[in-house]
Amino acid sequence: MPAKQAGPEPVALRPDQLILGIESSCDETAAAVLRGDGTILAEAVLSQLADHAPFGGVVPEIAARAHLAHLPALVRRVLDHAGTDMAGLSAVAATAGPGLIGGLIVGATLGKGIAAARGIPYLAINHLEAHALTPRLPSVSPDGLRFPYLLLLLSGGHCQCVAVEGVARHRRLGTTLDDAVGEAFDKSAKLLGLPWPGGPHLERLAAGGDPARFALPRPMLGRAGCDFSFSGLKTAVAQVVGKGLDAAARRDLAAGFQAAVAAVLADRARHALAMLPGATALVVAGGVAANGAVRAALARAAAGAGLPLVAPPVPLCTDNAVMVAWAGIERLRAGLVDAMDHAPRPRWPLDQLAPDRPPVG
Ligand code: KG4
Ligand code: ZN
Repeated sequence: MPAKQAGPEPVALRPDQLILGIESSCDETAAAVLRGDGTILAEAVLSQLADHAPFGGVVPEIAARAHLAHLPALVRRVLDHAGTDMAGLSAVAATAGPGLIGGLIVGATLGKGIAAARGIPYLAINHLEAHALTPRLPSVSPDGLRFPYLLLLLSGGHCQCVAVEGVARHRRLGTTLDDAVGEAFDKSAKLLGLPWPGGPHLERLAAGGDPARFALPRPMLGRAGCDFSFSGLKTAVAQVVGKGLDAAARRDLAAGFQAAVAAVLADRARHALAMLPGATALVVAGGVAANGAVRAALARAAAGAGLPLVAPPVPLCTDNAVMVAWAGIERLRAGLVDAMDHAPRPRWPLDQLAPDRPPVG
């Protein structure tokens, strides 16, 4: 074990102090500068979609090289936009997991380098916690959002129900037994002949389709707990596609798939809310939160429990660096900071966020 390097002590940022956030865990290269009060001064996201699309999925080696090629200039660009430079920063937060190790190393190493050069705190951010804390950004919840709340994280790589009980305090209540929900969208979209990533294309195709034409399964509906399963639904889509579809049938199948997913997610959310009696809100994050049918179904589930549905604007639901910087602000406020020898973790479950140093106070 390498010796722990003592870094600067955790100090909550003053409103006028600046933090840099870096995100590079998957196929988005992102950087952002926030004030200590959560005001977003500058942000940029470079999508690598075009690099990966020919392969029908994210290629880790291509992702790592793209982060390395673009991140330093992107950081300079957001610092410029924010009207500052590295000397103007008071903290740096970088995603340190979970994700693809090559990209994590690129982002975390750049973050540590800047923090070490400036003698300022470095925050190693768990990507899932960054999604989980995003709804507490002042621009998303101007009146504040109190813990605990229920988070549904619905992305291409993650599909979880999480009780968010505090900074670094999360309990996973349920997860997928097979595919993530975004993966289910992407695989079904591929079966329908749509480009990758297929979720948004499938939503467009579903518009005007008849969701009741094909009887598709609703896996896990009504089951105890709040685990998910989507592979049976995808198989059912494959079987219908195999029989041959005209244009109207394609629309109807897309609509039927989307309705089945929305119904399952709403059912799982209702169960999860029952497992977290003190919840103040139902929060949805991840790329699939952009889907209108999904949002509507979840809004009904939340309303049924007398709770608001908090859905950050789409650019804050998908991967970005604002959420990483904000998680850094929250962790500093909680008296947390990370050592310079914090190693990126490709696997890093939300319920293993034990800090390197105990919270202060
Ligand atoms: O959170 P995200 O941007 O990246 C990660 O997976 O980490 O989520 C991407 C996923 C993809 O599977 C994409 O197809 C899906 O979100 N997605 C959608 C929509 N927009 C993005 N799925 C359904 N409807 C949408 N409008
Ligand atoms: Zn994400």
